[in-house]
Amino acid sequence: MNETIDLLKTRRSVAPHKLGGPEPTPEEIETLLTIAARVPDHGRLFPWRFIVIAGEARRRIGEAIGRAFQADNPSASAETLEFERNRLARAPLVIAVVSRAAPHVKIPDWEQVMSAGAACMSLVVAANAMGYATSWITEWYAFDRRVLEALGLAPGERIAGFVHIGQPMEAPLERPRPNLSDIVTRL
Ligand SMILES: Cc1cc2nc3c(=O)[nH]c(=O)nc-3n(C[C@H](O)[C@H](O)[C@H](O)COP(=O)(O)O)c2cc1C
Repeated sequence: MNETIDLLKTRRSVAPHKLGGPEPTPEEIETLLTIAARVPDHGRLFPWRFIVIAGEARRRIGEAIGRAFQADNPSASAETLEFERNRLARAPLVIAVVSRAAPHVKIPDWEQVMSAGAACMSLVVAANAMGYATSWITEWYAFDRRVLEALGLAPGERIAGFVHIGQPMEAPLERPRPNLSDIVTRL
């Protein structure tokens, strides 16, 4: 129990380019996905799904990111294009959390979206508990229809996060956190 509290009290993101191998094993990935799928979910709708982007697939999706970027920025330098193509290949493993929130007679869209956020956070906490570090990011390509199609997202599905997972190459510095007195109301 204290280990969990310590982890949550000290967890920090590590930038994708500072995440290296070894990557999680297939068994560890199975555990991560099982934990991510065990989040509060009003109405048992499973309003999320996961896309495991590992190995060569990281560059394959990266090509789609590069194509979309080049189409919108025809004068981009070769260096910039390579940066875009390499976006998902910086960390050894990326798990995309997809929100499948859809109109429902009883469960508001907002609650379904929050459940996808909870799946992201469970994934982050579980990976950190296994000794990995993570970065939960979206970036422009999470909102780009051409990239979403390359990922196989149906119309209406959205990226809640690309959770990058790997071994930290360096320890992250602490960053300021809010004062509880500024954000907590006690009634
Ligand atoms: C939904 C969501 C999307 C995010 N997208 C980005 C992003 O695109 N780029 C980025 O630098 N940080 C993004 N972040 C913030 C990082 O996940 C992280 O929280 C931040 O770098 C602060 O680090 P910390 O987790 O150590 O507090 C996002 C966070 C959330 C919740």
